[in-house]
Formats: sequence, C-alpha cells, structure tokens
Amino acid sequence: MAEAGEKETHDQFEKRFSTLVIHGFVSLSTSLGIQSGLFDALIKLKDEERTVKEIADTAGLKERYVKEWLGVMVAADIVDINPETEKYSLPPHRITFFQSGSSDSNLAVTLTDLTMYGAVYKKLLDCLKKDGPQGLSYSEYTDFHTVMSNHSSIWVLQHLVQDFIPSMPQIEERMKSGIRILDLGCGRGLASLAFAESYPNSTVVGLDISQEAINYGKERAKEKGLTNVEFIREDAACIPDDWNNTIDYIYTFNVIHDLAHADKVLLALNRILKPDGVFSMIDIDCKTKHSENASNEYCSMLYTMSLFHCLAISLFFEGSVGLGTCWGREKATEFLKDAGFQVDSITKPVGSSQAHYMCTKILK
Ligand SMILES: C[S@@+](CC[C@H](N)C(=O)[O-])C[C@H]1O[C@@H](n2cnc3c(N)ncnc32)[C@H](O)[C@@H]1O
Repeated sequence: MAEAGEKETHDQFEKRFSTLVIHGFVSLSTSLGIQSGLFDALIKLKDEERTVKEIADTAGLKERYVKEWLGVMVAADIVDINPETEKYSLPPHRITFFQSGSSDSNLAVTLTDLTMYGAVYKKLLDCLKKDGPQGLSYSEYTDFHTVMSNHSSIWVLQHLVQDFIPSMPQIEERMKSGIRILDLGCGRGLASLAFAESYPNSTVVGLDISQEAINYGKERAKEKGLTNVEFIREDAACIPDDWNNTIDYIYTFNVIHDLAHADKVLLALNRILKPDGVFSMIDIDCKTKHSENASNEYCSMLYTMSLFHCLAISLFFEGSVGLGTCWGREKATEFLKDAGFQVDSITKPVGSSQAHYMCTKILK
C-alpha cells in the first residue's frame, strides 16, 4: 500500500487488486455457508474438533461439497483445522458473527445480499446499455422483503425503543401519552409493530407500496393481538389530502434514497406532519461528492448496493430522481429543505451506521 502522498506502484496495485479478487471469491463461499446452514452446524457442534462427516450430517448436506467448502474456510482462516487429526472447528471468538440474531451478525446478513445481486446481474448489465431498460422492478428481486427485514431486525429489536426513541425525550413523552405515528416504507412492519407494542396509547400506521410486505405486517399484528396499528398499501407520493396535518411523528428507515419521486414524497410528508410534529429520516450516511468518499472501503460497498439495487429500482420509474444509496448528507439536507423541513440535527444513532436527520416543519 502506498503511503499518503506517495504515488502507488504497479506492484502495490497488483497486491491490492489480487486481495480484492480473492476476497470476492471467499465472500461468495462464506455466504453459501451462511445460507446452507453450515455455520449453524459448526455452532451447534460447539468449538470441538469435528470430521467432515459430522459437520455434513449435522447440516444435513452432502459430504463431498461440505469438504470443499471447509477447504475454502480453512484457507481463508475462518474455520480452524488440526493438522494432526484433519478435524475442523469454529473458534468461540468468531461464533457471534455467524449466529443469527446476535448484534455481531449484521455483517453476515449483509454478505448474503450478494446472492440477491447475483440473481439480477445479467439484467443489470442490460440496464447499463444506452438502449437497455431504464431500471429493474422490485419483482426482479426474489425474497427482497425477507432480506430487508433481516437487515433491520437487529436495529428494531435491540435499539429502536430501547435507546433511539428515548434519545428524543420530547417525542418519547408524546408517544407514551398517545400520538399518531407513521412508519413510511415500513416493509414487513417490524418498526410499526415495535411502536404499537411499546406505546399502546399511540396509533401507528405502517405504509408501503408492496402488498406482500403489508400482508406480512397485518398477519403479525393479528398474531400479536395489536389493535393500535394498521398497515396500508399506498404509493407514498400519492398520500391523500385528508391526511394533511394529522401525523405527529414520521419515521423512515432506509427508505427515502430508494424512492423514484423522493422530492414529491418529502413534500407529502411535510404536508401531513402536524405543525409541532417531528420527522426522523434515518438514511445511509456518506458524503454526496465521490471525491469525499475516495479510499473509503465502506462506501465502495454502499455504492455496490446502490448499483445492484437502490439505484436500479429507483430508475425503473418514469421521472425518477435517481438518488442512489449514497446520495449523502449534503444532497439529503438540500432535499429536506426544499420540501419545507428544517434539519434540527444529524446524528448517528447507537447501534446503526446510518444518519438520523431529525427534522421539523418550517412554519410559514
Ligand atoms: C429498503 S426498504 C426498507 C423497509 C423498512 N423500512 C425496513 O427497515 O425494513 C424500502 C421500502 O420502501 C418501500 N417503497 C418503495 N417505494 C415506495 C413508495 N413509492 N411508496 C411507499 N413505499 C415504497 C419498499 O417497498 C420497501 O419496503
């Protein structure tokens, strides 16, 4: 790696590039291990050394494939091997990263996005062509809402009502007394359900354009016996006028950058928020200018997510603003202001790598 200010040499780039290529391959196999249940099997077998057969049988998979997968994991130093017995183990300090529901498992959840992107790879290639399609429809992404709710579940279950809402005492008090809350782009409605359960005096609306996601939310609400939450299928850009000045708190998590008509949706949110209401926009945190994200590996992952999903689904719609995942703080602030919001603060909530834009209405 070249030192800051030094010019990178051919050999230095070769080393960096070959690491990148190798890690790409290992990532794919690691994702396979997560989705096939191989890591679950290793965790179940504890950190004791095991044979290929024991691991394959525990996972209910074919031994020969499992042996090859273990070859990848051992070479990549993810699974350990005892050279005397040729038996395998997953050391305790690595377990939580592959244990579903643990706070370390976010990375593993993110890794499995690769398979969803792989499924649209050829169609995306066509979109890039000058005479190709504008973008990709949500329906191209099989199981999108499962993937998405896996992404947001740790935040919702461990942070949303435990520390995020309490970080805004004025909102928390009002939620306890009873207000009207909108979870816009609610997906499967995990946050809507958490609000409804934790603040029984409040009424919650989960709104999403996807019927499949809305049905899922409705089912869970029914199972939980919640009567203070409703799920509505609607395009956020078409929220009717009779909602004007009726919502006390609006929450969006990872939604606005995906919207083809984010400008129109933000105007609608401003219209429906009460004069003393609060809008929490939680969205991807990065800079707007590429030059300010240079040499930032985390941002390189975010731009990949954008290419393969967020940008492509947004551009699918006619007249899209095409924000992309990395629209960044500067552009986000500009859009919020143009829609009539004042950005009171931008903070990083505990347990999330995203930015929280806490907004109120500019009163005319
Ligand atoms: C990235 S997902 C986030 C879902 C949810 N907030 C979560 O954290 O799991 C974005 C959501 O916005 C929804 N969406 C996209 N365009 C929409 C629109 N025009 N109106 C309402 N919802 C929309 C999608 O269906 C999807 O559920």
